[in-house]
Amino acid sequence: MIDNNNLQQRDNFGSRLGIIAAAAGSAIGLGNIWKFPYITGVYGGAAFILVYLICIALIGFPLMLSEFLVGRKAQKNAVGAFKRLAPGTPWFMTGWMGVVAAFVILSFYSVVAGWCLEYIVKAVTGVFTGSTPEQINAIYEGFTTAAVKPIVWTIIFMGITCWIVMAGIKDGIEKYAKFLMPLLLVIIIILDIRAVTLPGAGSGLAFLFKPDWSKINGEAVLAALGHAFFSLSLGMGTMITYGSYIGKKENLGETAIQVTIADTLIALLAGIAIFPAVFAFGIEPGAGPRLVFVTLPNVFQQMPGGYFFGILFFVLLTVAALTSSISILEVVVAYFSEELKWSRKKATFAAGGAITVMGILCALSYASSSAFSKVKLIQGTVFMDSMMWLSDNLLLPIGGLLVCVFVGWVLGRKKVEEEVNSEGNHLGYMPFFMVAVKFIAPIAIAIVFLKGVGII
Ligand code: PHE
Repeated sequence: MIDNNNLQQRDNFGSRLGIIAAAAGSAIGLGNIWKFPYITGVYGGAAFILVYLICIALIGFPLMLSEFLVGRKAQKNAVGAFKRLAPGTPWFMTGWMGVVAAFVILSFYSVVAGWCLEYIVKAVTGVFTGSTPEQINAIYEGFTTAAVKPIVWTIIFMGITCWIVMAGIKDGIEKYAKFLMPLLLVIIIILDIRAVTLPGAGSGLAFLFKPDWSKINGEAVLAALGHAFFSLSLGMGTMITYGSYIGKKENLGETAIQVTIADTLIALLAGIAIFPAVFAFGIEPGAGPRLVFVTLPNVFQQMPGGYFFGILFFVLLTVAALTSSISILEVVVAYFSEELKWSRKKATFAAGGAITVMGILCALSYASSSAFSKVKLIQGTVFMDSMMWLSDNLLLPIGGLLVCVFVGWVLGRKKVEEEVNSEGNHLGYMPFFMVAVKFIAPIAIAIVFLKGVGII
């Protein structure tokens, strides 16, 4: 009885476009525009991209559908979903892990998003104009290791995130995603046109699309799979939570395909916006995390119209980060409000506040003047890098593995079919999906996980 009341009161997405915008908004983020280009640069380009595409198709995409269907079937947050679908079992701990992962990921995510905000200001005020590559590097070093500014931006970014999440699903998350995602698409297309029309853009395109297999090793495959999870927002209950706001008449099988394609396309478009420009000015593509914060300002500063394109780029990064951060916070807020019966406002304040504190710790761990930057945690890294390591190597792979096993082996084909084929829909790729969630994905994830933590 109580449950039925809950069902009717739940806020839902209002339209199909809203569902796609919100879910694609979650998937498309710093992962696509900051991380994908830089790991592609580090692992040598096209061959890495092909490996990544295979991981997306065989593992990421089936897992996305799995999370959607668990959420929609249960009509509950990440923890409540397992409690409802497998009552009296420890499966709900999978949801808990997701909530923990949300804290961990958003803590460093909000810091990097804060850097993007600072870089909008830097771009607008023309800080990079006329600077040498060494000076641009020093600007990055100086800012990211400062004590106060990164913390202020982290707090501002978390404030905006909380403000949107507090407004709810239809009037908060969906409303902003429907406005921000088209904006993101327009900006990235403008940047792509600029990049490919630069003289010398061809070698950048070749780097992206002509595979050199000698660059692929075990480490590159691990990075590709790990990134597929992160980029599609999988393994921590985001798509379970969003799936629970999707109406029963929607075709989940199609939604999963559309969101996967959108995410992959934007990552490739980000690569096309970056590498042709990098190569056109004869700069090394393998700068790592500094690619967008050091290499690119250097490129923009030499490019015709670079002042304008530089601003656009950092607005793009911030927009992408924001539609992802709201989805991470929503995992925790949905859990607090449904399981602990808190109001949305209280849940948002509590979750947002606690995560902001962790974000401040992340920023402090980079601040050269703070004693906390001397504290070394996982594998000798500081707090912020340890949070990244935890999510990439532990929380997301285990979360993803458990969801696959749950859908493939615990729910099983009959219940899966009931859910994905609701209200006259038909999942055309059922046999592939079942093989993927029962065998391919769990085995591949297990191997990656064991390698990641150094057991094999
Ligand atoms: N997918 C987001 C990105 O690419 C990050 C994210 C990870 C969001 C996990 C939600 C959950 O930036």
